[in-house]
Formats: sequence, structure tokens, C-alpha cells
Amino acid sequence: MPLPYNERTCYCGEVGTDRVGQSVLLTGWVHGRRDLGGMIFIDLRDRTGLIQLKFDPQNNPDAHAIAHKVRPEYCLAVRGEVAPRPEGLVNKDLVTGAAEVIVQEIDVLSASETPVFELEDEIDTNEETRLKYRFLDLRRKPMQQALITRHRICKTIRDYFDGEGFVEVETPFLTKSTPEGARDFLVPSRVHPGAFFALPQSPQLFKQLLMMSGFDRYVQIVRCFRDEDLRADRQPEFTQLDLEMSFVQPEDVMRVTEGCMAAVMKEIHGVEVPRPFPKMTYDEAMRDYGIDRPDTRYDLRIKEVSDVARKTGFKVFTEPLAAGGVVRAIRLPDGANIMTRKETDTLTEDLKGIGAGGLPLVKVAEEGGKVLFQTGIAKFFDETTTAEMVAATEATPGDLLFFAAGRESDVCKYLSWLRETVAKRKDLVPKDKWNFLWVVDFPMFEFDDETQRYYAMHHPFTAPRDEDVDKLESDASACRAKAYDVVLNGIELGGGSIRIHRADVQEAVFRLLQLTKEEQELKFGFLLSALKYGPPPHGGIALGLDRVVMLMSRMDSIRDTLAFPKTAKAQCLMTEAPSVVAQEQLDELGLQCVTPKMPGK
Ligand code: AMO
Repeated sequence: MPLPYNERTCYCGEVGTDRVGQSVLLTGWVHGRRDLGGMIFIDLRDRTGLIQLKFDPQNNPDAHAIAHKVRPEYCLAVRGEVAPRPEGLVNKDLVTGAAEVIVQEIDVLSASETPVFELEDEIDTNEETRLKYRFLDLRRKPMQQALITRHRICKTIRDYFDGEGFVEVETPFLTKSTPEGARDFLVPSRVHPGAFFALPQSPQLFKQLLMMSGFDRYVQIVRCFRDEDLRADRQPEFTQLDLEMSFVQPEDVMRVTEGCMAAVMKEIHGVEVPRPFPKMTYDEAMRDYGIDRPDTRYDLRIKEVSDVARKTGFKVFTEPLAAGGVVRAIRLPDGANIMTRKETDTLTEDLKGIGAGGLPLVKVAEEGGKVLFQTGIAKFFDETTTAEMVAATEATPGDLLFFAAGRESDVCKYLSWLRETVAKRKDLVPKDKWNFLWVVDFPMFEFDDETQRYYAMHHPFTAPRDEDVDKLESDASACRAKAYDVVLNGIELGGGSIRIHRADVQEAVFRLLQLTKEEQELKFGFLLSALKYGPPPHGGIALGLDRVVMLMSRMDSIRDTLAFPKTAKAQCLMTEAPSVVAQEQLDELGLQCVTPKMPGK
């Protein structure tokens, strides 16, 4: 009689000494098998853990004979009795380590080929292989834990928003392009040859329309699609925790977001997060950290030193300054002692890799009670400029000072990179800190020198701050937005804003973005129409759920938070998507491929 595997008594991870003497029916996979002088031991694994099975050739020769043949990753059902492990053989690393199951019956439900890599917690198998055999990779404990953490986070989020009176509403996937700044994934329409749906980059416009329909508090855990350059924290399809509220100011959206993140932190790490989260303006973030998502777990703040640099006569400083640029510095406390010459040389080379000309630096030293600079560009400083630079950077003997000169945006880029890299390489990032931060007062627009036009920094539905509305026509670059980003440990978790709810302001923004009346009508006619029917003031935010899970699980990539992610080249190595399709499918859609090509080939 085969074992009734549907009558499993408990999971493997639940077999403890409290069940000693009980008969259990377990299912799972062979994690490992040891043959010790006739006695066979198998570690049986399911998603809750491992339990040791014992096969005794004397008492159960049939079960023992089968156990002799099983191999790693065979799928089994077993029945047996829970026994305490003999004294001295208790495995303290396992929750179930004090118990074992003396097996009476065993069924091999299916055999397995030898897995292409070991299914241990720590493996050095390359990611490509892991992704190709994702179904095996997902048997590993850290991967299972990440997905279970993801599930718990989603449940906490849903419970929280339900408690706050939010309604989850689903919005369409087959829709029109939404301007979030990336390329769209297009879906051709068979019934309307030549016409295309776009997969949503976010539900932005639908959630605004739901506000206009009176839903007042909307939330959705929703898949979004963006065809953009991928990195460790970006996927072509990713999930947002998306919300929108009516009759609110930024503080109200911030309060619920903070409440939600606090609930998640409590559930996952048992940590109470101090609220409200600190706020920093965009200008302060760029000035002090060179980036709009600063990691405030460590200091290494950037110092403005243009005034002193101007007096040095050092061309690398003075030329960019004359062209309207800036010179800024980072002080690495005790840098002269904690960084070797080789390390600063590597930093210089790496920095060149992202476009910098080099990395001017000095060592701060002391001689006869006087602070002076050594090495690097020390010779360009005299007594006065040295003293002034020391004052501007608050340097003390033993420190290293790093400089960057050039266009402000370049200097920010180089020094924020340097700050992050030095902190990581010199282990200056505290491990158990959770620094949530709001970055506020973003500019409404960015001016692009190349195309000589403005672009919306967030998206074109973001409202200007009340005191800046008049600047829309007169001085767009000085116009700040009612926008806010939430940052955790230097990673942008989410962004949102109060929206424009007046048709005249929305049209003024569209005009500024050089959208003609016809284009406005074609792209956003439905929004402009809805704005005519009593739209409530409203605003919201979207958080990258994958990034939340990545940070909560202390992982380095959002790929590890997804069951079936895409590679950096936007491919699924397991299914080999995207793939070419049959000619008939193309014909049906009225499509012709100019360069039919297999991806990556
Ligand atoms: P935004 O474009 O800033 O705002 O996106 C919000 C958050 O979504 C996450 N995110 C991504 N995560 C993984 N892979 C990607 N390719 C990716 N792109 C974005 C980030 C980001 O902070 N509609 C607005 C929100 C609003 O205004 O309410 C929006 O989508 O964590």
C-alpha cells in the first residue's frame, strides 16, 4: 500500500522532542544521506526545515533497502516514530536537532537527477546557472526565506492599510503609456492592427482617477513594467506598493507611509522605528551628500570649499571654478592611517572609470604644533590656504582630504560615489541601523542642455508648492514640487507627491513640457476631462516592494526577492523569454520583424 502522502501529520521543521513516541507521516526532499555502518541516515527537507530520518536494517529491512537507493533531491513520503537522539548526537544548529524519526515505511514519490549545484545555504554557483535552474535554487533555505519574508511583508502591508480604511483596487495592465520616464513595453492589438497597448509603468493616472471617483483612500500591491537599464535594484517588471489619498497634504501621506514601514519593521525585525522620519530638503541632500538618496548611517559629509580652492592657483581647481563650477571635499577621519597608498590609487582609477579626471587629495599632518598638508596636491597650499581649508573641512591631523572640481552635477556624482565606496571598503557602515529619511522640496523640472527643454523631475502630475505656482510661467527652474521621496539606508524606497487637481495648472505644466494642445488631448485627454468634474485635492506615493523586501532580508539584489527574476539583460534564463514567435502569430498581429533575432545572440 502506498503511503497516503495527503495525510501528512506535520512539516519536517515541526518534529521536535515534544513529539517523542508519536507516529508521524512526513513528506519532503532528500537533503543528504549518510550510510554509517549499516545504519542509514537521511536529512529530509521541506520549506520549514530538516529532520533526520533513521533506517535500521535489523528492525525495518524493507525501508532500509529502499533508503539505500535514494539519492539527493528524491521526493519521499515516510512514516515512522519520533525518538530522542542519543546523548552526544544532538545537533544544536538545528531546531529539530534533538529528535529523529525511526522510519518504518518509505515511499519514493519521485527520483531526481543529480542537481546541477548543491542546494546548501551558501553556494558559489554563478547566478546564471542558479537562474536557469531556478526551481532548484528556490529549494535553498535563504531563497525560501526571502519569499516567505516577502509574503509576510505583503500581509502586514495589507492588514495595515485595511486598518487605515484603504480600499485595494486593481488597475489595468493593458493600457496606455504613462510617463514615468522609462520606455514602455508594448503589446500589439490583434483586433486593432497597428495599435498597441502599453504595460503600465505605474498605475499613476488610474489612481488619480479613482480619487476623482471618490475612493478617497486607495492602495494596491501592483506589478509595474519599465523597459530601462537594469541594475541590482531594478527589474523590468517589479512590484509597487501604490497608494493615493484625497484631501491630504504631504504630511498625511508621510504619516501613513511611516506607519506602514514601522509595522513592517516590527513584524520582520521586531524593531520600533522612531517616527516621524527625519526630513531633508533636496538642496541639503545634494549639498551634503551629493545625491538625492543619502545614506545617513555614516557621516563623511561633503564640504563646499570653492572659496579656498580659488586661492590655491591649482589649475584643476581654478579652471572649473572660472567656468562656473565648484570644488568640494570629503574628509576621511584618520584616513592617513586607515587607507594605504594602494587603496587611494585604486579609488582614483575607479573614479576615473565613472568619468572623473582624477582624485586630488592631501594628507593632514602636524609638525611643531602646526597643521599642514602632505602628499598629493599639498604643494598648491600655502600657510593661509591650508589654515582656511582645515577650517572649511574641520580636518584634524591624520585625516585624508579628497577633492572634486568641475560642474556641480559632476562633483556631486563623483563625491557621492566616493563617499559610498570609501564607507563600504573601509567598513564604516554600521550593520544594524535602519535610517529612514524623507527627501523633500524637489525641483519641479530639470533643464536638459542638449535638447534645451524642461523635463518633469518626478512626473508631470506633481503639484508645485503653493508659493511657487506663479513661478511656473516666470521662472520654472526655481519652482519646487510638493514631492517627497522616502529613503532607507541610501536606497530610494519610494517617491510621491501631491498632484495637480486644477485643469489650468495641469495645462500650464504640459505647456512648459512642450506638449501641444493636440498632444495633451491625445495622451491625457481623459485626465483633463476628469479634472473638469470636481476633482478633490489628492496625493500619494509608491514604494518599490522588491526593494523593501531586499532591505528587510538584508540581500544585495532585488533578484533574490523574486521567485523568477530577469537577468541584467532582461531575460528569463529558465523559460528563455523573450523568444521569437511563429510567423503566424506575427501575421495575425500584422507585424513584420525587420531584424528577427534571438535575444543575446
Ligand atoms: P517612481 O517612478 O519614483 O514613482 O517609482 C516608485 C518606486 O518604485 C520603485 N521602482 C523600481 N523598482 C524596481 N525596478 C524598477 N525598474 C523600478 N522603478 C521604480 C522604486 C521607486 O522609488 N507613480 C509614481 C509614484 C507616485 O507619484 O505616487 C512612481 O511610479 O522603489
